[in-house]
Amino acid sequence: MLFHALSACLTFASPLLAQEITEIYDIWQTTWDRSGLFTYTNLYPNPIPWNTPGTAGSADIVITDGTVYQNIVGFGAALTDSSAQLLSQLKSTNSDNYWDILNYLFDPTDGADAAGFSYLRVPLGASDFSASVYSFDDVSGDTSLDSFDINNAPSYLFEVLSDIAGINNLLKIHIVPWSPPGWMKDSGTMLGGSFLSQYTDTFASYLLKCLQGFQSQGFSIWAIGVQNEPQNSDTTYPTCLISAAQEAAIGLQLRTLMDDNGFSDTIIIGYEHNWNDAGAYPVQLMEDAASAFYGVSFHCYEGSVSDQETFYNAYPDKAIFFTECTGEIGSDWWSDIKWYMDNIFIGSPNYWGQSGAMWNLVLNGLGQPLLPGTDSCGTPCRGVVTVNSNGTYNYNQEFYAIAQASKAILPKDVGGPFGQRIEVAVNGDLNWGLIVGAYVTNRVSSSDWPRYSLVVLNWDDTPNGSWDPQDITTTIEFRGYQATYTFPVGVTTIYWYAEPN
Ligand SMILES: *[C@@H]1O[C@H](CO)[C@@H](O)[C@H](O)[C@H]1NC(C)=O
Ligand SMILES: *[C@@H]1O[C@H](CO)[C@@H](O)[C@H](O)[C@H]1NC(C)=O
Repeated sequence: MLFHALSACLTFASPLLAQEITEIYDIWQTTWDRSGLFTYTNLYPNPIPWNTPGTAGSADIVITDGTVYQNIVGFGAALTDSSAQLLSQLKSTNSDNYWDILNYLFDPTDGADAAGFSYLRVPLGASDFSASVYSFDDVSGDTSLDSFDINNAPSYLFEVLSDIAGINNLLKIHIVPWSPPGWMKDSGTMLGGSFLSQYTDTFASYLLKCLQGFQSQGFSIWAIGVQNEPQNSDTTYPTCLISAAQEAAIGLQLRTLMDDNGFSDTIIIGYEHNWNDAGAYPVQLMEDAASAFYGVSFHCYEGSVSDQETFYNAYPDKAIFFTECTGEIGSDWWSDIKWYMDNIFIGSPNYWGQSGAMWNLVLNGLGQPLLPGTDSCGTPCRGVVTVNSNGTYNYNQEFYAIAQASKAILPKDVGGPFGQRIEVAVNGDLNWGLIVGAYVTNRVSSSDWPRYSLVVLNWDDTPNGSWDPQDITTTIEFRGYQATYTFPVGVTTIYWYAEPN
């Protein structure tokens, strides 16, 4: 009997092998002409089959799923005071729209018609998108922090954050100040200036109290940062120069305080500034305080995403996060999506990033409200979602870029892990036309098949110097099988399942 079973296997090798992998049914697509806007299609009953490999296409995506890289934490944006204020106003004037937006942005449920944003950055105290300048202790010289009050933050911040956390219980909240209290600085104000090292222990205690304050409001905090953009001083909004040596000292003290006060699971993320200095400040931070910092985070405003590799090469065991870039009102919708996918939502993971995030989650159609008097966002910044005071709203290009990436890495199972990046390459004469990220999402039960996903940007829109968007018929190679799909100019996220590796 055994012999017969084996020979049957050999005779019918193809159909038996085909049971190791499902066909491709699930597609989300955003196209340059907006005929698709994070639009889901289930290809049943005509899925894309996996076949015995034929000739490779002029673009040929080659997946090597045995080569597994970093875990992905999630994609998202920042809940500034301004974003929370606009959302809170919407909640009181049009609660249906409010809940529609929050659910569409944050619901992580497998199969939901929603983007499942799972990373959210929250400024600690005022930023350039706050109604007024405040910290959690503005009593000058209060080194015992007796006057610390988490409720210096506007109540709408906690109200909206609570609603978001209620929708997405996988949400990773990253809190980080735009400045220490002004009295800890040479300027005496949160608006610009430098941190004074004599307040190292006081500021570490202040950050611990921030964690305790958020905990007291019902939030579990995934990560804390010491300072947003520590190399930027601007006298028109909360900013602060903190050197790498100063941040290292604060981080070491904070790590001890957190470990001693029940926050050993919360990570500390350092640097939080532009790509261009990846080989200097964040490397020095690790040389001085590797035990305190789980990793570092990058912003897009100078340098390029490939700079993340400079830090990775120096500290391959430390995590890299991408945490801020802003859209600007007036820019081109499709050009923006190409840039975001290439540099952040496919690009950052391909250069070791575990997250990708934009700046304000919500602003109005004028890029407001801003901190009165700030000179930031000279060209008005655009939120991921525009919410107007009359209750109308719009999902911007930033939303579609984030959503297409997020959908590829959300857990398949309740309680299951997020996606993990796997090796992928694009071959063929037209390989320049596609930018690709590949992920595996493992299952809670080891007998369930992992989900495999691709996020594909086709940016072949100007092949011979003038606008002429070209579909790219692409072969996809996976475990000795080949599928063929024609990617329109746009962003496409696809899924399939295969036996555990
Ligand atoms: C709502 O406000 C926006 C921004 O001011 C405006 O463009 C839009 O026309 C308004 N819509 C309605 C229905 O009033
Ligand atoms: C672009 O020009 C090349 C060379 O003339 C030609 O072979 C190709 O078909 C053109 N591509 C498109 C999309 O028009």
